[in-house]
Amino acid sequence: MEVVTAIEELRRRIREVKAGGASIGFVPTMGFLHQGHLSLMERARRENDFLVISIFVNPLQFGRGEDLDRYPRDREGDLAKARKVGCDLVFFPEEKTLYPPGFTTYVQVEGLSSVLCGVSRPTHFRGVATVVNKLFNLVQPDRAYFGQKDAQQAILIKRMVADLNMNLEVVVCPTVREEDGLAMSSRNNYLTPQERRAAPVLYRALKAGEELIAGGERSPRAVVRRMEEVIAGEPLVKKVDYLVVVDAENLQEKDPLEGSLLLAGAVYIGKARLIDNIIVNLA
Ligand code: PAF
Repeated sequence: MEVVTAIEELRRRIREVKAGGASIGFVPTMGFLHQGHLSLMERARRENDFLVISIFVNPLQFGRGEDLDRYPRDREGDLAKARKVGCDLVFFPEEKTLYPPGFTTYVQVEGLSSVLCGVSRPTHFRGVATVVNKLFNLVQPDRAYFGQKDAQQAILIKRMVADLNMNLEVVVCPTVREEDGLAMSSRNNYLTPQERRAAPVLYRALKAGEELIAGGERSPRAVVRRMEEVIAGEPLVKKVDYLVVVDAENLQEKDPLEGSLLLAGAVYIGKARLIDNIIVNLA
């Protein structure tokens, strides 16, 4: 497995791989790899000849006062996991490599960036779209893999790829959960043992919303109220950022509920901001 930090070296290797006719699968990450990342990498490994992952804690997607400085990092552990999955190349750039002095170009996906997580994190998705665009330009993958846990990110990247005529397929893979339902996330590392026990409440709230819809409820307000009730039962939730049921394609509100729906939420427990979602398809 090669570990590449320089852009020229990455470009040279990608040119060689492409010249040999190999397909490239790509998994962009911010490191501190867990089973969720590994499931993306395993799928990418199966579906492509050459597997590239990137590890880069992207400062552009963190707002002021967010967790950039304490975001967990584990270079050696990550490289060992990537090697085990059969990764061919890890791109591990430094900040100054991707954002040299004078960098002033950003990618903004309008509309989709300003709802759900975009309300409390107004510059987050601009940072995500910009870095993912840069990484796609560098790696030139045939397929790129993202987790359903970050549903808004996945929708937005699909939009960007379509709008900017990027020549690759975006593959969205199922959320990987702990046994008690908590969606795997590097940020779960911030939870104390007591908070960790409380954390599955978000998934339970989403499932309660789903159950209500399955029982025939078609009012989004009633579904959100049900999810709020479940969250309110857990005193360790410090703050609810949002709980919504929206159209799973465009993230817009729908009343009455119909078609493909995204039940999504973000809550603060201790130092962690946890997000999760489920999709409910109505015939
Ligand atoms: O999902 C993530 O880990 C990040 O948002 C991504 C896609 C690697 C961009 O920094």
